[in-house]
Amino acid sequence: MRIDILTLFPEMFAGVLSSSILGKAREKEIVDFHVTNFRDFSESKHGTVDDTPYGGGGGMVLKPEPLFRAVESMAGEKKPRVILMCPQGVPYNQKLAEELAKEEHLVFVCGHYEGYDERIREHLVTDEISIGDYVLTGGELAAMVVIDSVVRLQPGALGNQTSAVEDSFSTGLLEYPHYTRPAEFRGWRVPDVLLSGHHANIVKWRLKESLRRTSERRPDLLKRLELTAEMKKLLAELEAEKKITDKP
Ligand code: ADE
Repeated sequence: MRIDILTLFPEMFAGVLSSSILGKAREKEIVDFHVTNFRDFSESKHGTVDDTPYGGGGGMVLKPEPLFRAVESMAGEKKPRVILMCPQGVPYNQKLAEELAKEEHLVFVCGHYEGYDERIREHLVTDEISIGDYVLTGGELAAMVVIDSVVRLQPGALGNQTSAVEDSFSTGLLEYPHYTRPAEFRGWRVPDVLLSGHHANIVKWRLKESLRRTSERRPDLLKRLELTAEMKKLLAELEAEKKITDKP
């Protein structure tokens, strides 16, 4: 997979793209990152990339020419997916991460200004993505979030492939609790079932705890899920447990 990032602040990406899973994915040639300062594609000799808005008003607007020229300079047979990071975009989630992870080439456009010339939205980008209902100073941090979640889904990027499959959200449920040694820490014991070595019971416990966590923290996720017979049974058990503890 090739990932291009168009930004006025390329230095922001150095640490993130060379550390941890992303750094390893790059070393293993699973992903190829290209960070470009689109000021280099400005048509003016001062490197201007923004201008005042037509119609007046405050703030500066990113001009179309540098971004169009930067994207068009990328040679390739297939047109890449060009993603504009902005608060007005579609809300980002794991499903979209999985969809983007299948692409061969992604281009992220990160702006820092009041707005983008509308022709960038209409004729250059293929997707607009928001990482949440809050406003960042620019698209860079948002692009890093999306890139991290997409690269970790590439085959071979994570040491243990099952860890991506069992992630929160991939299954539609939040992940179950994890424990490691010691079996007892400051009087807090690891649940017996996890020490039992009984694989089937452990699988069932994990599913039940995933359901418990999801129903407590994200009931909206549970509503969207098609429940299996086993899930329904476990949810009924959780409901019955609640009734017992709720008694005065
Ligand atoms: N740029 C500024 N705020 C953003 C957000 N919430 N998501 C994506 N890009 C942004």
